[in-house]
Amino acid sequence: MIYGERIRLRRNERSDIPKFVEWLNDPEVRRYLLMNLPISQANEEQWFENMLKLPGNEQPFGIEIREGVPEYGNDHWRLIGNCSFMNINLTVRSAEVGLFIGEKSCWNKGYGTEVMRLLLCTGFETLNLNRIFLRVDEGNKGGIRAYEKAGFVHEGRFRQETFQNGEYGDMLLMSVLRKEWNPEK
Ligand SMILES: CC(C)(COP(=O)(O)OP(=O)(O)OC[C@H]1O[C@@H](n2cnc3c(N)ncnc32)[C@H](O)[C@@H]1OP(=O)(O)O)[C@@H](O)C(=O)NCCC(=O)NCCS
Repeated sequence: MIYGERIRLRRNERSDIPKFVEWLNDPEVRRYLLMNLPISQANEEQWFENMLKLPGNEQPFGIEIREGVPEYGNDHWRLIGNCSFMNINLTVRSAEVGLFIGEKSCWNKGYGTEVMRLLLCTGFETLNLNRIFLRVDEGNKGGIRAYEKAGFVHEGRFRQETFQNGEYGDMLLMSVLRKEWNPEK
């Protein structure tokens, strides 16, 4: 487990699949995930099998929050989304990160920012990366704000990189370099 203040990251299990099918078929959740079409349980089961063949550092993490009251003995961890390192380049020591929070009641509560902070800490302190970057749809204002709060800076723009509802949109590139990373942020 990788523990943050209010969340923890753990490996995905097969039992997570039904939640992913539910979340990724919600148009609001998948709006900025470059997934335009519905997915099935079988699609996600195939994704899971392919995921197990990825290098360990690129296998995703489930995002869990703690609920209940420990004193009452009813506390437990609840899955709310997923995140991962991708496209790790060991020559220049860079990696892309991505996340989604499928539980919409958990949006705008700071969890996305906390996930990104944890990924930055893990990427720099555990994987010994030098640059961590992400791509985000320019319309995803909440995501952009969360990434800025975690310390990502704007680096560039891929013009007309997305196509949704009959319109092209731009994709923004954001990154953090090891030397500018502030663990306190
Ligand atoms: C994008 C996502 C990861 C953000 O996570 P989150 O937990 O909601 O983000 P946070 O609460 O940490 O931060 C969101 C910030 O954006 C702000 N925000 C939300 N909507 C906004 C809008 N339309 N305009 C401006 N700011 C907005 C929030 O107020 C908050 O800022 P604040 O803390 O200063 O008030 C999450 O909403 C999500 O998973 N969405 C669906 C999938 C997705 O888009 N994934 C990302 C692909 S790059």
